[in-house]
Amino acid sequence: MKNTLLKAITEAGIILKDNFAGNFKIESKDMIANLVTEIDKKSEKKIIEVIKNDFPEHNILSEEIGALTQESNYKWIIDPIDGTVNYAHSIPITCISIGIEKDGEVIMGAVYNPMMDELFFAEKGEGSYFNEKRIYVSKEDNFAKALLVTGFPYDSSRNPHKPAEVFARVVYNDIPVRRLGSAALDLCWTAMGRFEGFWEYNLNAWDVAAGCIILTEAGGKLSDFNGSALSIYQREILATNGLIHEQLRKLIKNEN
Ligand code: IPD
Ligand code: CA
Ligand code: CA
Repeated sequence: MKNTLLKAITEAGIILKDNFAGNFKIESKDMIANLVTEIDKKSEKKIIEVIKNDFPEHNILSEEIGALTQESNYKWIIDPIDGTVNYAHSIPITCISIGIEKDGEVIMGAVYNPMMDELFFAEKGEGSYFNEKRIYVSKEDNFAKALLVTGFPYDSSRNPHKPAEVFARVVYNDIPVRRLGSAALDLCWTAMGRFEGFWEYNLNAWDVAAGCIILTEAGGKLSDFNGSALSIYQREILATNGLIHEQLRKLIKNEN
């Protein structure tokens, strides 16, 4: 399964890299700012073709085509381009994300940014890897020294969680925050220690399935904003190095 996963993600990576900053069709989805390109669809087609060739009986959940459900314990959860808005604007912070679930638990995942040649991979119980080198979360336990990352939903103006107010609260605590535009990379960059923590509202399973196992196998902690165990099908996510988790959680929830 690992070989199939790596084959699917590297072949899709060639499609992203070959078409990067080129001319391709871009359309809006439910919201005008939520984009899908011709390359998302090509990437998705290639990934599914590779998976179906080796595991025709496995289930698939992929952002653009939805669920292909059969009788199987396995489910491949695919984001053919995470960071489509960046990709459409020729910003090379974008990736492919593929997680594999067995009996409802993510057991393997890979995230690949072919523009920066950065490949992340993790398997349950076997650790996390960045370009084949073992990675770990940051050891920083001083919240005041943390560098954080977040994202904003496309419906921020109407979102009941008021994500910009939460962002302002963190920034007004003088803690620097970045906004990369790819949730999968946000999780991987936290897993490798570039960031101490990441939070976001309104994500989908394909944004986080692979990144979550990459983060936990690197020693990171995941929860929802109440501190409870996280399911990848929940919309909110808090992912940190573990050491600053509770402080960030309280700040997000405005509990003090
Ligand atoms: C998006 C990215 C972005 C996040 C959005 C996602 P997409 O995925 O992960 O960082 O803020 O909520 O929808 O649409 O580029 O696959
Ligand atoms: Ca996504
Ligand atoms: Ca996508």
